[in-house]
Amino acid sequence: MRIVNVVGARPNFMKIAPLIQEYRKHPTEFEPALVHTGQHYDDNMSKLFFEQLHLPKPDVHLGVGSGTHSEQTAKIMIEMERLLLSAPADLVVVVGDVNSTMPAAIVAAKLCIPVAHVEAGLRSFDRTMPEEINRLVTDAVSDYCFTTSPDADENLLREGVPAEKIFFVGNVMIDTLLGLKEASRQSDIGRRLGLNGEFGFVTLHRPSNVDLKETFEEILSALDALQRELPLVFPVHPRTVNRLKQFGHWDELQGWPNLKLVEPVGYLDSVWLMSNAKVVLTDSGGMQEETTVLGIPCLTIRENTERPITISEGTNTLVGTNREKIVSEANRVLAGHGKKGRVPKFWDGKAAERIVNCLLEHRPKK
Ligand code: UD1
Repeated sequence: MRIVNVVGARPNFMKIAPLIQEYRKHPTEFEPALVHTGQHYDDNMSKLFFEQLHLPKPDVHLGVGSGTHSEQTAKIMIEMERLLLSAPADLVVVVGDVNSTMPAAIVAAKLCIPVAHVEAGLRSFDRTMPEEINRLVTDAVSDYCFTTSPDADENLLREGVPAEKIFFVGNVMIDTLLGLKEASRQSDIGRRLGLNGEFGFVTLHRPSNVDLKETFEEILSALDALQRELPLVFPVHPRTVNRLKQFGHWDELQGWPNLKLVEPVGYLDSVWLMSNAKVVLTDSGGMQEETTVLGIPCLTIRENTERPITISEGTNTLVGTNREKIVSEANRVLAGHGKKGRVPKFWDGKAAERIVNCLLEHRPKK
């Protein structure tokens, strides 16, 4: 089985790594190739993750870089088509919901190459979110919908996806987390940042939070109130740096005494920060899941989530973007009333194994 595995943006790397390891256990069955679209290209958004996740160098780098949604999507489609026409594949595997996921899936489907979507069926029901469009389109053209939770299966069935295409396998991102949790203990980020007590861990990069000045300022004012009580570590995504500068807050934030603004951190540092934080405040999708498994209270700075199981079973709480709500929920956590939660079914480190077994059992047919 010649499998083309497509990645492009930071959260893709943790999802593909366990699959690449799993294919290697069946060298006579699988011939995997790794394609990097180049959506993320900074060393600390890409190369560092390849190193820490022990990913092989990509076989092909499409070098598409940044751009508008249409530019990025179109460039990836053109390059993917060229690639798949020159090196035929039996299956294309795409992961997650970023701008690299959808175009790769469309191109493969149009060339009649079976498509597997890992992390299928998640829905925020918010079509202003670019990822929601990517999820809907990708699932619509996929032949294998590998899901992380029963709500995803239900979403797909409701949209008319035949049950034979849906496989509840668990969460590959958690395979990576459990595999590298021990190694993350060696991270020296706490020492480097001079953390010697309780702290909060903050990440923000969603367009709905950082692209609108008013919303972003409301969130920043909540962070200002919080950093007066608890040191906050905030690795700043490139999109967020751009907005902070554009809205004239970059210099001001450097002056907040208890806020540690740092460059985006690697995977091991991120897991260390999550594991040791008193509270995590984020708009990331993956961190809602990772904190659930680590048992750390997560306050999600969004009005909705495509990962409701992290709320119903895990440690996640949606707090929206209102200053008072964010501060009061954070104070609840600091007072010891954070959610404890339990680990969802199949978030056990064996999702990639289930996917590979499924592919062996239900071989792709052209
Ligand atoms: C993308 C994903 C989002 C994911 C996030 C993780 C989409 C639609 N969104 O958002 O789901 O949570 O990645 O980080 O695919 N930039 C750099 N260096 C880089 C990459 C980006 O400076 O290596 C800057 C560029 O100015 C770029 C901007 O960040 O225009 C946004 O990058 P982009 O890939 O378009 O989206 P993200 O916001 O990173």
